[in-house]
This record gives sequence, C-alpha cells and structure tokens, in this order.
Amino acid sequence: MITIRKWRESDAPIGEAIGSIGVTFKEDVYRKNAEIGYFIGEKYWGKGYIKQAINLIVQFIFENFDVERVYAEPYADNIASRRALEQCGFTCEATLRQNVFKNNKLLNSCIYGILRQEYLEGKTKRL
Ligand SMILES: CC(C)(COP(=O)(O)OP(=O)(O)OC[C@H]1O[C@@H](n2cnc3c(N)ncnc32)[C@H](O)[C@@H]1OP(=O)(O)O)[C@@H](O)C(=O)NCCC(=O)NCCS
Repeated sequence: MITIRKWRESDAPIGEAIGSIGVTFKEDVYRKNAEIGYFIGEKYWGKGYIKQAINLIVQFIFENFDVERVYAEPYADNIASRRALEQCGFTCEATLRQNVFKNNKLLNSCIYGILRQEYLEGKTKRL
C-alpha cells in the first residue's frame, strides 16, 4: 500500500497524506495479474491526483514484477474512478451485473484492465 502525499500547490501542506493506492498480486493461474485499489480524501477530489497515482503504480508494477495485466474493479456508477482509469489507458473489459450488494442495493461493477503490451506501447503515461 502506497500513501499518496501532496507535493505541490498550496491547498495542503507539502507531504500531507491525501489518499492511498495499493496492489494485490494474484496467485496460481492468475499470477500474471495484479489488482489495484485506491482512494483520495474528499477534500482533494477533482484535482487529477488519482490519475498521477494510477500511472505511477502501473509503471511500478510493470517495471518491477512479472505481471502481464493490471486491473481494477470500480462500481459501475463510480464515474470518477472509471474516467480516471480510461484516461490512464485502461480498457473497460466487462460489466458484472448485480455482483455487488451494498447498503441493501444490488449494484453492477466493471472490470478495467491494461496489458503489459499496451503499457509498452505508451497507453499509460510514464512519470
Ligand atoms: C475515485 C476517486 C479516487 C477519483 O478521484 P478524483 O480526484 O475525483 O479524480 P479526478 O479528479 O482525477 O477525476 C477523474 C475524472 O472523472 C471526471 N469526473 C468526476 N466525477 C464525474 C462525474 N460525476 N461525471 C462525469 N465525470 C466525472 C473528472 O472530471 C475527471 O475527468 P477529467 O480529467 O477529464 O476532467 C475518488 O472519487 C475516491 O477516492 N472515491 C472514493 C473511493 C473510490 O471510489 N475508490 C475507487 C474504487 S475502484
């Protein structure tokens, strides 16, 4: 798990933790996959920080581990997360219907993935 810290501009002290991003390496037949998960503190939404963090962790994973696919599973109604993934070069591979049961509601989720080949072709931004 990596803590995302503020590093420029003036709305938070430099170095303050503003969010977190983590990776889970899958096992057995899924061992060439890594799943990422993240959040940004609400005060810092809408500033593009998560895109920088996603780009950085994708680069870190492909440069350091024997992984061929990085993916995330946002809820279908999480437009900010989906848009951030798309802007980082991820493709929406599937919508999983009613696979989440949260607050007494059935929700859809989506699978977004990026392949090593796509990373090498420059689909995500190198930092
Ligand atoms: C998901 C999350 C990290 C996004 O953070 P954020 O700071 O809002 O993200 P960004 O500012 O980079 O926004 C991403 C994009 O979505 C767009 N967006 C955000 N809300 C939107 C909405 N309701 N409708 C359309 N577009 C929207 C933004 O405009 C931006 O696109 P742009 O760069 O073209 O303008 C943040 O909302 C969060 O932490 N949520 C709670 C935890 C969570 O959902 N984690 C993800 C689990 S998969």
